[in-house]
Amino acid sequence: MNKPIRNNSLLVASARTGLSKLQKSLEAKWFYDHAGSALFEKITELPEYYPTRTEVGILNDNIDAIVHLFPEPASLVELGSGASTKTRLLLSGVPKIDTYVPLDISGDFLMDTATTLASDYPSITVQPVVADFMEPLNFPDDIQIRPKVAFFPGSTLGNLDADAAVELMSRVRSWPNVKGFLLGVDLVKAVPRLIAAYDDATGVTASFNMNILHRLNREAGGTIDTSAFRHEARWNGRESRIEMHLVAKRATEFLIDGQEFSMRRNESIHTENSHKYTFKRIEKMADRSGWHVSKFFTDEGDDFAVVFLEPAGR
Ligand code: SAH
Ligand code: AVI
Repeated sequence: MNKPIRNNSLLVASARTGLSKLQKSLEAKWFYDHAGSALFEKITELPEYYPTRTEVGILNDNIDAIVHLFPEPASLVELGSGASTKTRLLLSGVPKIDTYVPLDISGDFLMDTATTLASDYPSITVQPVVADFMEPLNFPDDIQIRPKVAFFPGSTLGNLDADAAVELMSRVRSWPNVKGFLLGVDLVKAVPRLIAAYDDATGVTASFNMNILHRLNREAGGTIDTSAFRHEARWNGRESRIEMHLVAKRATEFLIDGQEFSMRRNESIHTENSHKYTFKRIEKMADRSGWHVSKFFTDEGDDFAVVFLEPAGR
């Protein structure tokens, strides 16, 4: 029997708001249903998408220094944990970690990942939390007062605008007994490399972008003709970010849960920002959110950075 289709009321409300703006937009968090999370994993393997393998290299090369930064015992709390692939480097390389709390909005994908991790790391307690990391976080009771290190790899921070990024960093700073914040951030670089990373030759990133439209059709009473759209990656130099858009190839009309929307040819829906940082900018954001940069690890090409933040004034 097919699953009954129920509209996701949060998705409907968010889509209606975004699609009613002059520059139509959708919130990037809606990329991540099970299909979107699986597509993101495919992106991480693309030759053009340098961030994942570069960050893995940095974590591997610096694991001995990273071990020293952790308290003992430590609960590792990961924001936007996805497939937790990079986390395995920490779970294997930092024996001080005895609890792992992966937090993600993509619930089914998270639960599948957590089950596999729990069986692969029997000495670590794995406590998954399905939540939006922009909302205040309720820790499981037994985690509340334990010494914590936050882990936010992948430059997912870069998907937030400047104020939201500082707000999230401040919220993590206020977690009970937080000892540090291990943060992965993508650095500014030549624009053609950035465009290629977000518009790969095989079209995986295009499928990831289009998945948000399929999701609206599946879960928000959408009647979108997805063939009317194409994927586009744009560099916005003023904001130092890659933007993903879905551009209408022709005039098109559709419904979202009964509400009508229309688009002109070449009008776009802005679906994601991916900010690229400098060391200075990271330092400023840390300052504004009650942290100080205690370690800055990077690769030979300065493509990506893994930063360890400690509570300021300690
Ligand atoms: N940490 C992994 C995955 C990064 S992909 C890595 O570095 O490779 C971004 C992840 O963040 C996805 O798993 C997505 O589901 C999650 N995510 C995006 N927005 C979120 C939100 N608002 N709250 C919680 N998780 C979110
Ligand atoms: C999860 N996030 C950091 C990715 C990024 O690079 O902004 C998502 C992504 N979008 C397109 N490709 C990958």
